[in-house]
Amino acid sequence: MHYQFPADFWWGSASSAPQSEGESLNFGKSETIWDRWFDEAPTRFHRQVGPAQTSTFYQHWREDIALLKQLRHNTFRTSIAWSRLIPDGRGAVNPEAVRFYNQIIDEMLSQGITPFINLFHFDMPMVMQQAGGWENREVVEAYAQYAQTCFHLFGDRVKHWFTFNEPIVPVEGGYLYDFHYPGVVDFRRAATVAYHTMLAHARAVQLFREGQYPGEIGIILNLTPSYPRSSHPADQQAAHIADLFFNRSFLDPALLGRYPAELVALLEEHQQLPASQPGDRALLAEGRVDLLGINYYQPRRVKCRDSLVNPQSPFMPEWFFDHYAMPGRKMNPYRGWEIYEKGIYDILSNLREHYGNPRCFISENGMGVEDEQRFEQQGQIQDDYRIDFVREHLIWLHRALQEGSHCLGYHMWTFIDNWSWSNAYKNRYGFVQLDLDSQQRRVKKSGEWFARVASEHGFTQ
Ligand code: NOJ
Repeated sequence: MHYQFPADFWWGSASSAPQSEGESLNFGKSETIWDRWFDEAPTRFHRQVGPAQTSTFYQHWREDIALLKQLRHNTFRTSIAWSRLIPDGRGAVNPEAVRFYNQIIDEMLSQGITPFINLFHFDMPMVMQQAGGWENREVVEAYAQYAQTCFHLFGDRVKHWFTFNEPIVPVEGGYLYDFHYPGVVDFRRAATVAYHTMLAHARAVQLFREGQYPGEIGIILNLTPSYPRSSHPADQQAAHIADLFFNRSFLDPALLGRYPAELVALLEEHQQLPASQPGDRALLAEGRVDLLGINYYQPRRVKCRDSLVNPQSPFMPEWFFDHYAMPGRKMNPYRGWEIYEKGIYDILSNLREHYGNPRCFISENGMGVEDEQRFEQQGQIQDDYRIDFVREHLIWLHRALQEGSHCLGYHMWTFIDNWSWSNAYKNRYGFVQLDLDSQQRRVKKSGEWFARVASEHGFTQ
């Protein structure tokens, strides 16, 4: 069977400034929460490898963009680091950063690669965190001014902007489940952080529209389709609530400009609603995006709770459901996440049926592998498992396209093995293998395969 994709389909991959640039405290850049966390708690990071140890895009950008071209990318996403562009969080712009980002944008364009630029990839500048981070509404405005500075400096060439990558992750990591700085576990504070992040998003979109910059603006959300264990109404309800918390809390404001009434009612009932101000509703309504990026890795399997939650225990989303591992499911043997290719189709069908079929693309999808060097033969990583992974997801994506989904492209996570937060280099994701010591880059088998698919806009299977 042959799978042909549209001639203008976006083929590419994604990365981010904090995970690839390096020079985390040089060339005028200020500290982020990651630099600080590594200083304070290096043992929280796999093999104590911190944010300074990257694939050094800051030095290797020309070589890396040449590799992107070799992999036949027509689009590529990375991010701008707020802490590099505006080291004090607000105010003066760092000319060295402007030079750097101009260079990479110009180089991508000259190689025929359309730059997709994201403005925030988990990398809160430490000065802003000290001011309260997203808990402080003033940070909302500081972020919006930073976003506007980016539109102004680079908007003549960048036509695809994203306000946030996976905005729920800093909420979960930093304020609910303790896997990001500042490691707070408090639902109410988490809800405030989530709410202010969406206000910041909406304010950036508002400024983008007011400035009449060319191009389009979107957001990148990690969507985890939520499947119930059974058709029993209690399991169905559990999956529905998980979906409200983990998907619709960002998806609805991004696409519809408002929060789901059911989620608001539930938080209100439990006195967990964040404080709002007059005008917030109107602002959120302005945050509707032109383009949605979808990061999809694995689904969420949900069942109703087996035991009642003690009403004295702190409020958590898990009050309403339990996660469970379904025996017999296909798993990534090298990382332990479920592989469920149809999830990509279900997400796109849901967007078509319930959200008016928005313009969207798969902005991340990929497979992390531990100790990947064991698959090296004659100098190349033979990652057939990654080829299978991408191909099977593309087959479901193709089906969604045939049914009318407005999905414009597919980006893999990631271009080159990169530093992945507290997991550092534990799981390798790239089309290109990185030797951290020598900084040597070698294209994996999957990279060669992807280049063929991208150049032919399809494949036969
Ligand atoms: C999503 C995030 O955007 C990225 O930063 C992370 O490294 C990958 N997923 C892999 O976990």
